[in-house]
Amino acid sequence: MSNKTFYVTTPIYYPSGRLHIGHTYTTVAADAIARYKRFTGFDVRFLTGTDEHGEKIQKTAAEKKMMPKDYLDGMIEDIKKLWETMEISYDDFIRTTDERHEKAVQKIFQKLYDKGDIYLGEYEGWYCIPCESLWTDTQVGEEHLCPDCKREVQKKKESSYFFKLSKYQQPLVDYYNSHPDFCFPESRKNEMLNNFINAGLDDLSVSRTTFDWGIKVPFDDKHVIYVWIDALCNYITALGYLSEDESLMEKYWPANMQIVGKEIVRFHTIIWPALLMALDLPLPDKVYGHGWILFSEDKMSKSKGNIVYPEPIIERYGIDALKYFLLKEFTFGQDGNYTNRNFLTRINSDLVNDLGNLLSRTVSMIEKYNDSIVPEPKVFDSVHAELKKVASSMPAKVDDAMNRMQFNEALEEIWKVVRRSNKYVDETMPWVLAKDETKKDELDTVLYNLAEALRLVTVMISPLLHITAKKIFEQLSAGEEIRTYESALSFGGLKPGTKVAKGEILFPRLDIEKELEVMESMFKPKTEEPVKEEVETKEIIHKDEITIDDFAKMELRVGKVLEASKHPKADRLLVFKIQVGSEIRQIVSGIAKFYDPKDLIGRNVVIVANLKPVNLRGVESQGMILSAATDDDSKLVVIQAEGIEDGVEVR
Ligand code: MSP
Repeated sequence: MSNKTFYVTTPIYYPSGRLHIGHTYTTVAADAIARYKRFTGFDVRFLTGTDEHGEKIQKTAAEKKMMPKDYLDGMIEDIKKLWETMEISYDDFIRTTDERHEKAVQKIFQKLYDKGDIYLGEYEGWYCIPCESLWTDTQVGEEHLCPDCKREVQKKKESSYFFKLSKYQQPLVDYYNSHPDFCFPESRKNEMLNNFINAGLDDLSVSRTTFDWGIKVPFDDKHVIYVWIDALCNYITALGYLSEDESLMEKYWPANMQIVGKEIVRFHTIIWPALLMALDLPLPDKVYGHGWILFSEDKMSKSKGNIVYPEPIIERYGIDALKYFLLKEFTFGQDGNYTNRNFLTRINSDLVNDLGNLLSRTVSMIEKYNDSIVPEPKVFDSVHAELKKVASSMPAKVDDAMNRMQFNEALEEIWKVVRRSNKYVDETMPWVLAKDETKKDELDTVLYNLAEALRLVTVMISPLLHITAKKIFEQLSAGEEIRTYESALSFGGLKPGTKVAKGEILFPRLDIEKELEVMESMFKPKTEEPVKEEVETKEIIHKDEITIDDFAKMELRVGKVLEASKHPKADRLLVFKIQVGSEIRQIVSGIAKFYDPKDLIGRNVVIVANLKPVNLRGVESQGMILSAATDDDSKLVVIQAEGIEDGVEVR
């Protein structure tokens, strides 16, 4: 086995629902680079897994009246089945509920505590339940919104262990400066440095006492370890860190490539490297933050009903069609928009017309004009030399693009050869050459060059589309020795005399309009199906119980909207003048996305009348207008009290 190692990881997935093609994207990219590195001679370790602790999971399981572990086992089985269906070539699958992980995380916590990098304190801050993140006053701002998901956060005060993140602020800055490629792409690095690290790092609360579905702090079992600390450590616990056998750790750490979606870059490029520094471990070479696959410019989410699942796509169009689309359509690192039409068009143009056509023409012509035998090339100038040049220079370009994780560029370089080869057929017109005995050398050359260019193409797509590559190699009767990366570095590997054999069509041509209808129905919830499959079960996380006396402290009143205007400095906010009995209140509300200022003039709304005034971006707000909003902030309605006089108390 090679002594060049390559360790690549995906984030570990939340088993909170069925995975969609957005999730699949991270894993397909990791699989592509893992396969590519194996193909170019590396000893690869590819890790994926699941992130199974935390309040959210505990509550979801409780709602389903299940023990967390039983609930999780079923979900994890589905995730593993998906990766199996997609032929994802991971080497290890870690669950944060694995004993190997739990034990090692406790040892890590102990080690940091003994070192003085973890200490006991009291946490007072803002908690975002869906993100399981705690934030400071500055981070949530005056509007008290989670900086990540923009949902409302709740005040929390609890005894907590803290990790001395602040101690690592300067070492992180130094590391970023001396390792400009650590956080990638550049835009994400700048965001981390400017918006977070340079803005100052507070110590991080790393334990919780308000729920218990987590790994217990080894020396204080009232506390469970913060889920992100638990989760991040998977990348080393899977290699046996602090276990009896650290051989994998010695061999594969530090990771070469940690692939994560853009919303979790912050955890992986601030908290994670600081933890590693505290453990005296080297940092990964690169954390690559990729963009999101959007659906009609929006992030996929079950509540918006715009989810695209991989299984039905694979079943109808094949694994490679989906993988090709994901890798070719989007630039790795940037967001991209998914549409069924783009997917279908991509298959027809690139896989059916370009690649499928090249294979079927090449093999058919060799069958027809040379009894299925690959002839010997005899002419080496003009258009023949040019095709050879284009094909021979391709592998190096693909290698360069792959090493930069630019999958679409790599595929484009390969497809240039596919398209050039198809053009070569049109230019040389073998069917005309075949009619003229004196053109036999020319015809042999064309047939050979086509088959050999196709072989180079197939070798280079093999780590990306391994199923398709296998089918083409079989039709070309290409032996193992000419399927390798090294064999693609020179033109001429295919032996004249090889017998080709036509096989099944690689990708059948699609009737796009018909398939659009099929795809529409793929993701529509079927009425007879249990809703659980398609619709997110609404997770209600209750606040602490209050008494009637607590409630009586709140003064809710009907108010009539007299005036409404845009906030001069904040697009999200509207400024209202509201008549409440004899008073006129000024209230600022974050509902500009949902209401035009004039929409509410004259309406009777419900306000919190005894809320301490706050200053919102320079405008005083003397209360709050009540509204109901969906969790993902896609819909919001202001609660109205039509027909009730302003000033009346709401009870
Ligand atoms: N459990 C955390 C990761 C902990 S790693 C120590 C988590 N899990 S997740 O299931 O929510 O997300 C897993 C991966 O899927 C992330 O990289 C995330 O960015 C990716 N995607 C989820 N939806 C996505 C899109 N719509 N588009 C692209 N990738 C997205 O985060």
